[in-house]
Amino acid sequence: MDAKEFREVGHRVVDFLAEYLDHIEEKRVFPEAEPRTTNELFAEPLPQDPSSAEDVLYELETKLLPYCTNVGHPGYMGLITPSPNPVGIIADFICSALNQNVGAYSIGPSAVAMERRVVRWLTDLCGYGPKAGGNLTSGGMMANFIGLKVGRDAVTSDRAQHDGVRESWAVYVSEERHVSVDKAVDCIGLGRNALRPLPTDANFQVRIDALQEAIAQDKKNGIRPLSIVGVFGTTNTGAVDDIRALRRIADREDMWLHVDAAYGGGMLLSHQWPMRDRGLELADSITIDPHKWFYAPLDAGAVLVKDQDRLTASFGIKPSYLTDELDQANERYQYYVHGFEQSRRFRSLKVWMSFKRYGARLIGEWIDNNVRQAKHLYALAERDPEFEPASSPPMSATCIRFIGAGLDEAELKDLHAEVAQRVERGGRFWMSTTELKNKTWFRINPVNFRTRQEHMAELFQLLQRECRAVFREKGLASQST
Ligand SMILES: Cc1ncc(COP(=O)(O)O)c(C=O)c1O
Repeated sequence: MDAKEFREVGHRVVDFLAEYLDHIEEKRVFPEAEPRTTNELFAEPLPQDPSSAEDVLYELETKLLPYCTNVGHPGYMGLITPSPNPVGIIADFICSALNQNVGAYSIGPSAVAMERRVVRWLTDLCGYGPKAGGNLTSGGMMANFIGLKVGRDAVTSDRAQHDGVRESWAVYVSEERHVSVDKAVDCIGLGRNALRPLPTDANFQVRIDALQEAIAQDKKNGIRPLSIVGVFGTTNTGAVDDIRALRRIADREDMWLHVDAAYGGGMLLSHQWPMRDRGLELADSITIDPHKWFYAPLDAGAVLVKDQDRLTASFGIKPSYLTDELDQANERYQYYVHGFEQSRRFRSLKVWMSFKRYGARLIGEWIDNNVRQAKHLYALAERDPEFEPASSPPMSATCIRFIGAGLDEAELKDLHAEVAQRVERGGRFWMSTTELKNKTWFRINPVNFRTRQEHMAELFQLLQRECRAVFREKGLASQST
């Protein structure tokens, strides 16, 4: 592909995407296609001969784009993936063109400097001091893993890093945790049985009394408390644990405190409901994902550590083929010795460009709009006796459920699943279902700067209609009497 063709194809793609974004609301949120069909679309052997760019783009237009989930559609209110902000899309294009590898200074000096600045913006936002550091990750999963790994190393004075895990340890977390915590506990060598999922209160915040009891019980059984994972914005309802209370217990027991703010970190930018006074800065390490509520395109998670030397202590192995002898004087910052991953794409570019282009103030307004929308939906559900909201939403995630006509829980589970499918088939909205305290709920979560208040009213009317229709059509009325 020469420069002329690159320019032509690039212009065409940009024109196409501009059109796509401009008309996104006219599309279906979720495509009408079975997995069988989408798999068949790409069922061909490895191409041996070249095709023209024209032909390749045509295939994308006919096979890929019609079957995408349009997460930028204002009716997308599902699993936490934002409407990507347009300058972030451009940033990813530039990122791939430059292909800087921020793992090593020699493969991206200015990119490393930019990532360090973006990390500084994030640590400042969380209330950390000048010793803090971190790096951008593929997402919250990887960030939680790194947070738990550095915590394990700190508490075992780095013994586990060299000798493996020799003692019995436990990690404490809310039952409302993200599954990434379970995976991380396994990956740091403790085994999933070392996780203590703790009950939550009526607002889905972890119960401190249950935490104290679990620690006491473990100590009695010879199991040592290793770390607490606090949640700053649960996936289901946006609940924020009492970080100050968690910190006190972690100090008393010499434990690490990691806080998962993958989703809730966005609230640090909120104007109307700022959550800068919730003690996030008391955590030893934090997960915060720009690719969630800072509206950056995937992927851009981040792990932050209060004392960045901890990252180096946990990951600072320098193989000879990577050691840069020139880094002695004016330090060449080598992310590979201050983090887990080696080759890393230049994720900070889209975060940097987003903050530069829109400014934190405007992004905070988008966040406030999403919270307002969630509160509106909550109010609608609260007013309707056939519906029940789980809790007043502190963020944008809201769980509501249909309780009309006294169905039992198994029937309600089927009804909610059927309604969610009908909503998906309708094409205007997408939301998920979830379980909270052994009950099934619709989980509705706008993380989307295109969503407007009227979309919530429209969605709620649709849910009212569909719930009643499924109830009637399935003959649930007769079963339950
Ligand atoms: C609270 C929380 N933590 C961690 C994650 C995992 O993040 P990712 O999907 O970016 O790996 C999620 C994902 O939704 C989340 O909600």
